[in-house]
Amino acid sequence: MPRMNAEHIRPLFDLPRDLAYLNCAYMGPMPKSAAAAGQAAYDQRQRPWQLGVQDAFFDQPEALRAEAAKLFGTESDNIALVPAASYGLATAARNLDLSADQEILILAEQFPSNVYVWREAAARSGAKLTTVARSANQSWTDAVLQAIGPKTAIAALPEVHWADGGVVDLVSVADGLRAQGARLVLDLTQSLGTAPFDISAIRPDFAVSAGYKWLLGPYTLGYLYVAPEHQNGQSLEESWIVRDGAEDFARLVEYADRYAAGARKFDMGERSGFQLVAPALTALEWLNGIGLENLAPALRDRTRAIETAVRPLNLYCDTPDRAAHYLCLVLPDTAPSDLAARLAKRGVSVSQRGDRLRVTPHLYTDDVDIDRFANAVRAELT
Ligand SMILES: Cc1ncc(COP(=O)(O)O)c(C=O)c1O
Repeated sequence: MPRMNAEHIRPLFDLPRDLAYLNCAYMGPMPKSAAAAGQAAYDQRQRPWQLGVQDAFFDQPEALRAEAAKLFGTESDNIALVPAASYGLATAARNLDLSADQEILILAEQFPSNVYVWREAAARSGAKLTTVARSANQSWTDAVLQAIGPKTAIAALPEVHWADGGVVDLVSVADGLRAQGARLVLDLTQSLGTAPFDISAIRPDFAVSAGYKWLLGPYTLGYLYVAPEHQNGQSLEESWIVRDGAEDFARLVEYADRYAAGARKFDMGERSGFQLVAPALTALEWLNGIGLENLAPALRDRTRAIETAVRPLNLYCDTPDRAAHYLCLVLPDTAPSDLAARLAKRGVSVSQRGDRLRVTPHLYTDDVDIDRFANAVRAELT
């Protein structure tokens, strides 16, 4: 088992001692090793003649695809490299049928990347976009299971709601959808890389994650799972590098009809982006080295310790089935609307989402951070 105490992990990150960074759901800090890999890639860009074509254009992206595949619990063939969650979700929308008498399910206050694309799909097809709300004390799972019906064609869901940290039990939701012949599209941006993902039980049609939060990678590189049955579908763009024979740069105008295998045809243009691939690969190797099965309990320990530290202040999480890595604290009516900004002045980085304070630690979070957070909240709220 890798050493996972904050005391061992913290030095791997560039985190100042006078800051409690509890904002991984906003943006994960890249490990120092990942930043160094990115800097080396930029350095190398000064000397293009030194770039190994096979390595830089093909082997490194493949190595990254393989690491990303481990997070999803699948093979490299099912993964595409994409710039953003919205890109992956647009790929899904482009490849799923919808008719005017059908509906798409989304959650209330879902992240906009997984909303706008379905509004557009609904407007184009005449299908209805149904927003599933949950009542107090109801889990997202129960709310979604209640909403699934014979008209449901697509459910476009997260695994963890970005604003309240509630989990959608994807195994039962996927079963409910399959019973109606409906499709499942997932935005895993707030969960992938924090716990094992049971792909064989969930069997989504498409699942995407941005790479700059829990995956600790650079901005503008994410990962899209495409189920084998959709791999003959249409990509958003026609990149040359995902065509057969692209390795031979001298013969690119011998245009090829065939694509590289599996989900690679859905790769974004310029997917080899050296300065992105190098740090992303380093970050994912690190996460996979720790092991997703070890991460989930360790992250739960951190959020529980934070919960315990603020309980005397009457701050609590009221979300049923909260995710292990995600703590959304209900704020009292008297809390200042700029609480997050005030906490930042006290060296605490968290996010305010509606009437909740979103506190998202990682393995680098230690007791000093947790004390700093509790003291800062006490000073602002009492
Ligand atoms: C649930 C969720 N999905 C996606 C994103 C980012 O989306 P995109 O990669 O489309 O910018 C975020 C960012 O906060 C998010 O919380």
